Amino acid sequence: MKALSMDDIDLQNKSVVIRCDLNVPIKNGVITGDKRIRAVIPTIQKALKNNCAIIITSHLGRPTEGTFDEQFSLAPVAKHLSELLNADVRFHAYDPELNVQAKNGEIVLLENVRFLVGEKKNNPELGAKFANLGEVYIMDAFGAAHRAHASTESAIRQAKIAVAGPLMMAEMEAAKKILQEPKRPLYAIVGGSKVSTKLTVLENLLGFVDGLIVAGGIANTFLLAQGYNIGKSLVEEDFIDEAKRLIQLAKDKNVDLPMPKDVVVAKDLSSAEGLRTTTINDIKADEAIFDMGEETCKEFAKALEKAHTVVWNGPLGVFEQEPFDKGTRALGDILAKSSAYSLVCGGDSVTAVEQFSIQDKMGYLSTGGGAFLEILEGKTLPAVAALADRA
Ligand code: 3PG
Repeated sequence: MKALSMDDIDLQNKSVVIRCDLNVPIKNGVITGDKRIRAVIPTIQKALKNNCAIIITSHLGRPTEGTFDEQFSLAPVAKHLSELLNADVRFHAYDPELNVQAKNGEIVLLENVRFLVGEKKNNPELGAKFANLGEVYIMDAFGAAHRAHASTESAIRQAKIAVAGPLMMAEMEAAKKILQEPKRPLYAIVGGSKVSTKLTVLENLLGFVDGLIVAGGIANTFLLAQGYNIGKSLVEEDFIDEAKRLIQLAKDKNVDLPMPKDVVVAKDLSSAEGLRTTTINDIKADEAIFDMGEETCKEFAKALEKAHTVVWNGPLGVFEQEPFDKGTRALGDILAKSSAYSLVCGGDSVTAVEQFSIQDKMGYLSTGGGAFLEILEGKTLPAVAALADRA
């Protein structure tokens, strides 16, 4: 990525704004997953080491602009951040004027930027306010880099100096290993429930991968498109023609597209009544597919044996619920044992990898959900474009 980094400038005693993505799950004021907070600790520590005056900004959820709503408050994040850093973090409550300053060596976390009118519309005046909070604007919110918002785009363009933070650099470096200089063969695994949400991703991937594995609910639509009876499985009938087109595209581009051979079905998800593994040509009308079968996983393993680079987005089955976690677990094991570089992106696949405790065996776990999907769709993220223009 063409961008200045924190190492390219003299940070000593500077006032800095660090735009983070601290959009973490919070239930009743308790943070239930702090990955994104931990991911920016090195960035903040780097600024602290340089005796910077530090103002941190982030969004949380999707509140209505112009009104404070406690359920979207970053106050619990300030407390947790302080514990992780073992340092004071001053919380600056909702303030449309952004009347705030930090002293050298001090850390201030601002309330949710999405309470501010103009954030989502990329309002240039609000962007200027963010930019003027410090001498250096550090963009490290990779998870929000696909949003052209005042704090993720306009502020970068208007800051005196704008740089990418270490997390942002690492994410773009990982993306480069897939998009620009993959060690081939390159395989993509795309699971999850719906073809409709991944159509552009699948189409774009077919333009440059050597193999594509479709799984989860997406595979159901592909199976139906090939004429298999898939019972009452989750499917998008409106996308059958698209699935047929993608199958043809894979053929035309000579992309390996291994299809499921057997699947795990049941009559009911919660009770797992009627649980069995069956070949794909013997699914009954009252059964639904909830996972990939063992033979299918072996086929996928065989295909992936060849791969030197793998990008994985989306689970193979209902991995949150035993016994439907086996396919996703098997895929995780294949990648954990493989010497291929594997990049895992998307909330569910990253959660699955963590659930199976194999995160250390993966090449990279992205903190971005929608942001990484847009990269796989072939788009340039607005924050990335803005940083490149300022480099
Ligand atoms: C995410 O969770 O993917 C990012 O924080 C972006 O959030 P958004 O989809 O609400 O913009």
